[in-house]
Amino acid sequence: MSPALSRYLEVADATSELARDVSEGLAKTPKQLPPKWLYDARGSELFEDITRVADYYPSRAEREILVRRAPEIAAATRADMLVELGAGSCEKARVLLDALTAEGSCRTYVAADVSESALIGSTATLTEEYPQLRVEGVVADFETHLDLLPAGERRLLAFLGGTVGNLEPDQRHDFLAGIASILGPHDAFLLGTDLVKDPERLVRAYDDSEGVTAAFDLNVLAVVNRELDADFDLAAFEHRSVWNAEDEWVEMRLRSLRDQKVSIGALDLLVAFAEGEEMRTEISAKFRRRRVEAEAAAVGLAVQHWWTDEAGDYALSLLVPRA
Ligand code: SAH
Ligand code: AVI
Repeated sequence: MSPALSRYLEVADATSELARDVSEGLAKTPKQLPPKWLYDARGSELFEDITRVADYYPSRAEREILVRRAPEIAAATRADMLVELGAGSCEKARVLLDALTAEGSCRTYVAADVSESALIGSTATLTEEYPQLRVEGVVADFETHLDLLPAGERRLLAFLGGTVGNLEPDQRHDFLAGIASILGPHDAFLLGTDLVKDPERLVRAYDDSEGVTAAFDLNVLAVVNRELDADFDLAAFEHRSVWNAEDEWVEMRLRSLRDQKVSIGALDLLVAFAEGEEMRTEISAKFRRRRVEAEAAAVGLAVQHWWTDEAGDYALSLLVPRA
């Protein structure tokens, strides 16, 4: 049986949102694009490749914690439904689903992502692997569609990969407040956060020696070319990874290799880039325990469990409504 696929985010709405983001982002100084647009079908594949490169440690670290702690997570939550936000390939859900089905509680897995292509293959495979579960894919934006997610008696909402770090601080606050507002008294929220560490390792994780992150970053220009009839020359930009010590986040940037003008046909816009000018395409915030606790408390959530990998590179926390 093929899995159910619902669409909360319509294709036309996504395109007009991209148009607005590009028009606003390219008018800023420095120019910027929101990271959400990195994930067309090609971008989602490239992200999967990133998770396998040696320099990019967060995926391995998070998996290590999940493998070790999934039974505890299942026992603590006894969730009847796992709802994963920004699920991508749903690769890590298996670890949780194995523990939750062993616990005997889980009936449904909902994978939500803006990338339909990422969801289609992965939910089909999971439907075959877990015939006892209802598997549902939802094309949705976790910044706007939280209210539409299916209800359950005891839901475990999971937001893995450190994707919360890709939100700007005010967006992150609004997102966490949104999560707090939809958590029922028996629901829980599992949050993955990459931790502050040696800047050299961080910069390398976002500019890997195999060049996969560079291809992932440049792909956003191909997305704008295709969706908004633009003529970015991908060879005229280079990828950069920069540690911003003040904000404690890594920035992905695309640097213009020459003076150039780019036409965005759908916006009737001509945008000038100076040689060496950099456009920010992603922030990836790195956390400390204190900050996760404070940001959770600010929206009425408490960190019930805090688990790290052996090396202390990454943390998974289980958040619940504050008593
Ligand atoms: N959770 C997976 C994938 C992380 S990559 C993992 O840990 O490996 C980030 C994922 O979030 C991508 O699949 C991307 O398409 C999705 N995403 C990014 N912004 C989003 C948004 N605003 N709403 C929903 N999904 C989003
Ligand atoms: C999905 N997100 C948490 C990744 C990150 O680490 O910020 C995206 C990524 N960007 C470059 N490499 C990976």
